[in-house]
Amino acid sequence: LDNGVGLTPPMGWLSWLRYNCTTECDKYPTECISENLIKRTADAMASEGYLEAGYQYVIIDDCWPEKTRGADGRLVPDQARFPSGILELSRYVQSKGLKFGIYEDYGNLTCAGYPGVLGHEATDAATFAEWEVDYVKLDGCGSPDSDTGYPMFGQLLNETGRPMIYSCSWPAYQSHPNYSAIAKACNIWRNYGDIENTWASVVNIMTWFGDNQDEFVQMAGPGNFNDPDMLVIGNSGVTVDQARVQMAVWSVLAAPLIMSVEVAGMEPEFKEILLNKDVIAVNQDPLGKQGLRVWTGPDKQDQIWHRELSGGARALAFVNIGETAALASYTYEQMKLPSQDFTVQDLYKEDEEMTLKAGEDFKVKINSTGVKFYKFLPILKKTEEALSRENEI
Ligand code: DGJ
Repeated sequence: LDNGVGLTPPMGWLSWLRYNCTTECDKYPTECISENLIKRTADAMASEGYLEAGYQYVIIDDCWPEKTRGADGRLVPDQARFPSGILELSRYVQSKGLKFGIYEDYGNLTCAGYPGVLGHEATDAATFAEWEVDYVKLDGCGSPDSDTGYPMFGQLLNETGRPMIYSCSWPAYQSHPNYSAIAKACNIWRNYGDIENTWASVVNIMTWFGDNQDEFVQMAGPGNFNDPDMLVIGNSGVTVDQARVQMAVWSVLAAPLIMSVEVAGMEPEFKEILLNKDVIAVNQDPLGKQGLRVWTGPDKQDQIWHRELSGGARALAFVNIGETAALASYTYEQMKLPSQDFTVQDLYKEDEEMTLKAGEDFKVKINSTGVKFYKFLPILKKTEEALSRENEI
């Protein structure tokens, strides 16, 4: 969608994976979907380095409104959990330098049974603009006709004059999505099912993206990104090695980097992965070109993921989803590298910088359920002319 926002994949936080639809604040005061959760998250993102690293959007997922609309037909936030109202909350988030996002659904009811936008599209788009929202996630439960509904709601958002990232769940609810229509109407879109707090779920999504990449990879670019769903990193479901895999592959995929975790006081080894500047730079590369799974070994245990970056550089993730460490050697052909010399930098900083000569095999050792993630920088050969000029001097 060409609306001036989301030129690189959005980065931020969303409540769903970690907090789900927890509404009983009496029982679970720190877990429930509430203004306290959003404020606490915004505070931590701003004070603990996340905003500085690029994580900007704080987004409430499902279960924020009252079960019925107000007498004027407008959505009303749950009065007990959001006593200050949404405008005040979005201003609080923005006062920290962050941006604010909200969830709705193109159906009568959201997936968790709260009022959906159907029949109230214009009112809700206007309400979001009045609430100074910067990001709208539109889910697809009970959607009668996504192919017309999503573009229509996107247009209503645009007509408010307030630029908002428009995140559509449209293709995730269809078997043969029309990706060019989706890219025209939305900034980002969920291609596939929900991520869960497990390594198996991360692998399942990676496998699906690799197997189906040709259908949608060309849609990615500034203002348009495929969305494999939230980062599990920092939760109980993935180890440090597995967290590195997700961060690397999501960066190769030019995917939105949306955490869903208790941000305050995160364990340092996970925080370090989320804040890795060099990996984030791959994700945020201004070309916005999505990478590909270019090679897989037997049973897809070993995988090479390759993304072209600006300036002729490339990011390559060597993933081992197997249960034992892998020692492998890859050819230029397997890595899909042009015949050039490269300087190779380890983005997780375990290996020293290396030089790879055109055509040489590249050796990697990868932990079980782990990754090695490198940036390949072309070594530009001086032209004959430049060399002879140097000799004359
Ligand atoms: C389905 C979506 O895919 C999830 O990300 C989440 O928004 C839930 N619905 C909320 O009900």
